[in-house]
This record gives sequence, structure tokens and C-alpha cells, in this order.
Amino acid sequence: MHIIDVFNKKKVKQIPPVWMMRQAGRYLPEYKKVRSNFKDFIEFCFTPDAVTEVTLQPIDRFDLDAAIIFSDILVIPHVLGQTVWFEENYGPRLADVSLEKILENSIDVVIEDSLSCVGLAIQNTRSILSNDKALLGFSGAPWTLLTYMISQGKTSDFNDVLIFAHNDKVLFSKLLDMLSHKVAELLILHIKSGANAVQIFESWAGAVPEHLRNEYLFNPLRKIIDIVRKNYPDVPIVYYGRGIATDYINIADLSIIFGVDENANLADIKSMLPFHVLQGNLSPSVLLSGENLDENISSILNVMTNHPFVFNLGHGINKDTPISHVERMLFILRENKI
Ligand code: CP3
Repeated sequence: MHIIDVFNKKKVKQIPPVWMMRQAGRYLPEYKKVRSNFKDFIEFCFTPDAVTEVTLQPIDRFDLDAAIIFSDILVIPHVLGQTVWFEENYGPRLADVSLEKILENSIDVVIEDSLSCVGLAIQNTRSILSNDKALLGFSGAPWTLLTYMISQGKTSDFNDVLIFAHNDKVLFSKLLDMLSHKVAELLILHIKSGANAVQIFESWAGAVPEHLRNEYLFNPLRKIIDIVRKNYPDVPIVYYGRGIATDYINIADLSIIFGVDENANLADIKSMLPFHVLQGNLSPSVLLSGENLDENISSILNVMTNHPFVFNLGHGINKDTPISHVERMLFILRENKI
């Protein structure tokens, strides 16, 4: 598998492997068709056949190097007892529940059991997916999960979450710790079921003030990686911390792959982390508009020549992205050898 070789720094081919964050989703007509069979998004995520179908759609259409299992980071709060639903034109909503209760009850929640349908979907998908393609598992990271759990999906500036963390220090740190264990359990379930690598999404990392990043972001991350590596020492782990790429220097001792968002300076991150594999950085808005797309792609490829790199966006693909722009991106990448 080309992408797994690159994750493992085995060889650097001229054309980097490519996949896109949120590659299965609403910019694809074939996704919308399957989606229309379900009223409830979480129910969709828990239906293995439908999950396998939409996971494979972007691979069938674009021949990408990796499929990412179709699910959502919010399945963890949902199985912990905080009901999650999605409102049209709004996004995720989470029930108004006591997080103290969630913490108490979490002892009885065994991720391998409560999310066994995700494991099943991974097994199905892996058995159909061609052997040269990787299947990726994923989870949200504890802080990002807590931003949704605390604000119930209503936050716009994270002040409520930061205030909770400050006023309720003990509960907050117990929640972070509990979630670190559940996230590790989920990643282990994904790997056990056939995922070839996993990605940890810390999408709201940038909302954490710098002096709190060790406590809120990096200590939980270290715990997760420790637990996963005890079970699977060699599985590639990608960490995507949106908005904090310059802080990766503080976790450069970890042998993981770093996801780079579109606002980070890729050349600077490469100089800062000369021994790490990097992934990402193409702006989803550039892909959406198509403006200067070719130039943006060449510039990323130029910076990353001779460095192990996985081509990807800096964040999830926008739902209004024209398919022709994705095709153009892949054409430039594959045909226009730099
Ligand atoms: O990458 C993939 O294709 C795999 C599937 C995947 C989804 N969500 C499906 C989804 C993955 C990896 C995610 C991760 C996720 N979910 C993140 C981290 C990555 C990021 O983008 O920052 C976050 C923060 C969420 C939470 C979430 N789920 C939000 C904010 C929303 C609503 C906004 C939106 O884009 O629709 C979702 C819903 C969601 N998750 C959809 C999909 C395809 C759209 C729901 C629908 O089809 O109705």
C-alpha cells in the first residue's frame, strides 16, 4: 500500500499518495442518494452496509489511495449516553445532560460492544476494498469531543467550554481522562477490525490558549498513543491538530504523522519536523473556488519534494465543491509530474 509505505517512511515516490478529509459526503450525488434513505444521521452511521457503500464511493470515483471509514467523531458522546442528532442547515446538536452522570455511567460503556457495528462495517469494507488501498479508522480527540459535549453543539467562540474547564477543573480533567481511554478503545477496535492506520481529529485545537495546550491537548494525546501502541506498536497514527501546527514541536518526540491545516506554512513545518511524515495543507476554499488551484498544488509539491508526504486538504472538503475541481486536483497531481 503506497500510503502505508509513505506513513512508514519506506519510500518516497514522486507522486504522493492522496486522500481527502471528509471525502465521503454531501458533495457527491451518490452519497446524497444513500443519505436520503435515513432520517437520522447516527442511525446511518450504525448501518454497516450503508457505511461500506459510502466509504467506497470516493475510491470508486477517484481511485484515491485510502478510504476512511464513514462514521462521525460524535458517535462516542452518543454511546456514552448524550444523544446526538443533526439539524439541517445547523449541524450537530447534543442533548442537555449532566456530564457528571455521563462520567459515572461511562464505566459501564464498553466501546467494543456499543460500537460493534462500526467494527463490522470496517471488516466488510476491508474485505471489499482492493489490497493496494488503505482503510483508515479515526476518532475525535478528547478536547474536540468535549467542546461538543459541553456546548451541546451551540458554541461559536468556545468561551463556554473554556469557562467550564476553568470553573470545573476536577470534572473537566476527569472527562478528558475518561475520553482518552474511550478514544483509545475506539481506535483499537478500528485497527482490530482491519483499519491499516488511524487518524485523530483535534479539529478545535486552535481554540485552546497556548499555555493550556499540554494539559488539554497533548497529555490526552500521549495517553491515547500509549494505549494504542501497547496493543499495536507499529500502526501508523496521524494527528490532525487544526490551528496549532507550530506547536507540534512540543510533541515531536512522538513517532506519528502530522496533519497540517491550510493556514500553516508547510515549508516552516517541514523545517521544524525534518524527520516526520506530513499530510495535508491544500486549502478547501481553493478547491471549492478552483482559483489558483494548479499553482497551489504545485507549490505544495515543490515544498515537499523528497520529503515523505501524503497529499490531502488542510480541512474537510466543502459540501459545495464541484466534482470537476477534485478531478482537476488529481489530474495535476498525477499527470503534471513536477
Ligand atoms: O472523512 C470522511 O469522509 C469520513 C466521515 C467523517 C464524517 N465526519 C462524516 C460526516 C469524518 C472523518 C468526520 C469527522 C468529524 N465530524 C469532525 C472532524 C473533522 C473536521 O471536519 O473537523 C468533526 C468536527 C465532526 C462533527 C460533525 N459532523 C459536524 C460539525 C457535522 C456537520 C457539519 C457538516 O459538515 O455537515 C457533522 C456531520 C457529518 N459528518 C456529515 C458527514 C458526511 C454530514 C451529515 C449529512 O450528510 O447530513
